[in-house]
Amino acid sequence: MIGDAPRLAELFRGARTPVVFTGAGVSTESGIPDFRSPGGIWDRFDPNEFTYANFIGSLEGRRKYWELGRVTYPVIRAARPNAAHVALAELHRRGRLDCCITQNIDNLHQAAGLPPEKVIELHGNATRARCLACGAAYTRDEVHVWLEAGDGVPACPACGGIVKPATVLFGEAMPAREMAEAERRARQADLFVVVGSSLVVYPAAYIPVHAKHAGATLVIVNLAPTPLDERADLVIRGQAGHVMGAVVAGMERCS
Ligand code: APR
Repeated sequence: MIGDAPRLAELFRGARTPVVFTGAGVSTESGIPDFRSPGGIWDRFDPNEFTYANFIGSLEGRRKYWELGRVTYPVIRAARPNAAHVALAELHRRGRLDCCITQNIDNLHQAAGLPPEKVIELHGNATRARCLACGAAYTRDEVHVWLEAGDGVPACPACGGIVKPATVLFGEAMPAREMAEAERRARQADLFVVVGSSLVVYPAAYIPVHAKHAGATLVIVNLAPTPLDERADLVIRGQAGHVMGAVVAGMERCS
């Protein structure tokens, strides 16, 4: 059923273990384009060029990846949390959020005030990088200094190995610990709210299904239809920032 924010506020108020699951749609109001809306990232770049195999397989594959990174990462670095991120942090502060499972790599949930232990990142985090040979950890900002200095394919200063952002590329293994924890928390949730995801990328898109199967009330807040809409108990077509801000405001009125 198509519903609205006051109904969702009521569900958050009464939930024992509310979990939120976010996608790129929660960050578009911070100026970060999503992937599959018109004009999104995969409208402008071919996802088949940015696979894990291409990155690991050749210098040219890595050069292409870092070329894309030079376009996309500065937008992430400049972005600030929007009303949706702020609302989720407020729900946490009021004890109304068990955790946030996110497909996003932009660190904006943490920047909005969600404690890192409350954010389960299924696709990693773009602000960090690591050498695949010796494990040396770098910040993404350090790597971009090397890129801006003309190093088209940064190598590890310590050992010369391949430096890779701490994000999960297509074809790369998902982080086992985060996936297991996300499934566990989804199965424990009595309210599971998807915000800003097309729910077309697996295995992440299985997480809301686990929650629903385990008995959670499933809510989807998204501008466009998703494949899970028919199985949702409530669908809200709206801007993530507006809807989630109204949910918190709605809870104020009733507390
Ligand atoms: N408010 C609500 N919904 C929004 C907003 C907004 N302000 N902006 C965009 N949306 C919706 C879009 O309609 C779309 O359905 O958010 C959804 C974003 O979907 P995608 O772009 O597919 O992003 P996501 O679901 O996070 O993609 C999953 O795919 O490419 C990979 O690793 C990448 O984590 C990403 C994964």
